[in-house]
Amino acid sequence: MYQPRITSSSFFIGRNEPGLISFGSGQSDLLPPQELFSALPRAGYLKYGLIAGEPALREGVAKLYPGTRAEDFVITNGASEALDLTLRVLCERGGKKVLLTRPHYYSYPHNVLMAGMEPVFTELVNGRIDLADFAEKVQGVDAVIVNTPCNPTGCVEPVATLKAIEALTARLGVWLIFDEVYKQILYDGEHYRPSTPNVITNNSFSKSYSLCGLRVGFLHSYDPELVRQVIEMKTDTTMNTGLLAQQMALAALGTPPEYFAEQLAIWRARRDLCYAGLCDLGLELVKPEGAFYMLPKVNDPGRAVDELYFDHQVVVYNGEWFGALGHIRLCYALDVEKIKEGLERIGLWLKQRK
Ligand SMILES: Cc1ncc(COP(=O)(O)O)c(C=O)c1O
Repeated sequence: MYQPRITSSSFFIGRNEPGLISFGSGQSDLLPPQELFSALPRAGYLKYGLIAGEPALREGVAKLYPGTRAEDFVITNGASEALDLTLRVLCERGGKKVLLTRPHYYSYPHNVLMAGMEPVFTELVNGRIDLADFAEKVQGVDAVIVNTPCNPTGCVEPVATLKAIEALTARLGVWLIFDEVYKQILYDGEHYRPSTPNVITNNSFSKSYSLCGLRVGFLHSYDPELVRQVIEMKTDTTMNTGLLAQQMALAALGTPPEYFAEQLAIWRARRDLCYAGLCDLGLELVKPEGAFYMLPKVNDPGRAVDELYFDHQVVVYNGEWFGALGHIRLCYALDVEKIKEGLERIGLWLKQRK
C-alpha cells in the first residue's frame, strides 16, 4: 500500500513557492476591508490587555448578535482558540465525550483529544447531518460541534435540521458548540444560529473579513460561569488577544455591507468555475452551498496529494485529514486565472494517472 509522504496540512500552511497553485489552506486571497487600516499602532497597544478582550470590541461583536450582552463574549486568537478554550473548560467541568460530524474540520478531533475528551462521530449523508443517526449518537455525549457552512464539504445545514438539533441538545442538556466562521459566505440556503442557553457560538474575522492572519475571533455563551472559566483558562495560556489586532478588528466592524456583497459575488463566480471544472474532469462531488471548499472523490488520496504537489506543483489536502476517506479537499480562494491553471494541471495529472 502507498505510504503518503505528506501526512498533514502543517506541511503546506504558509508555503508559497513561485509557480505553486495552492488549493490548500483556507485563507482568503481577497483584500480585507480598508477601514481596519485606520487603527494605527500606539504604545498602549503594546502592553498586556484585558484577558476577556477590549470592551469596545466585545460591545461591537455583541451588536452583531441581537439579544446578547458584551460581557458574555471573549475575544480570542481566532475561532481556533475559542474552540480550544471551550473544549478544555467543558472537560474541566467533567465532560467526557464530544459528538462530531464526519467529515469535519480537521482540527476538531485533535482539539477534543487534547482537551482530554473522546470524539464520537455521526456520518454526514451527502454532506448533511442525518438527524436519526445524530439523535442516537447524541445520547451520552457532553457536547456536539456543528459547523455550517461546513469545511470541508461546503454544505449548509437546513434550518429545520438546525432547529431540531437546537431543541434536542437543549432538552438533553448537551452543549452545542456552533462554529459559524463561514456564515457570511453563503450562496444557497439560509443560515440559522441556534440560541438556546446550551449554545456556545464560535466565530472570527478570519474568513468573511479576509483577515485570517490577524488572529481575532470570539466565543459567546449564555452561561456567565462558563465565560468566567474560559477567561481563567486564557489567563493561564495565551493571555489577552493582541491589542493592535483587536483595534483593527474593531475598525473592521465599520465595514459597509457592499464589501461583503462584492466578496460574495467573487466567491460565487469562483465556486461555479471550480465546480464546473471539476465536473468536466469527470470528478464526482457535491455542489457547495457556502464556504470556499470542494470535496471531490478520488482513488488513493494520499498518493494524489503527493503526486499533485511533487509532480504538478498543485496543493490539495487529503480528505482523510477531515475524516473524508477517498476524497481530496480543494480551497478555491484563488483568482480565476489560477483556478483555471490549477484545473488544467489536475486534468493532466488525471490523464497521466490513468
Ligand atoms: C470550520 C472552521 N473553524 C475554525 C477555523 C479556525 O479559524 P480561525 O482562523 O478563526 O482560527 C477554521 C479555519 O479554517 C475552520 O475552517
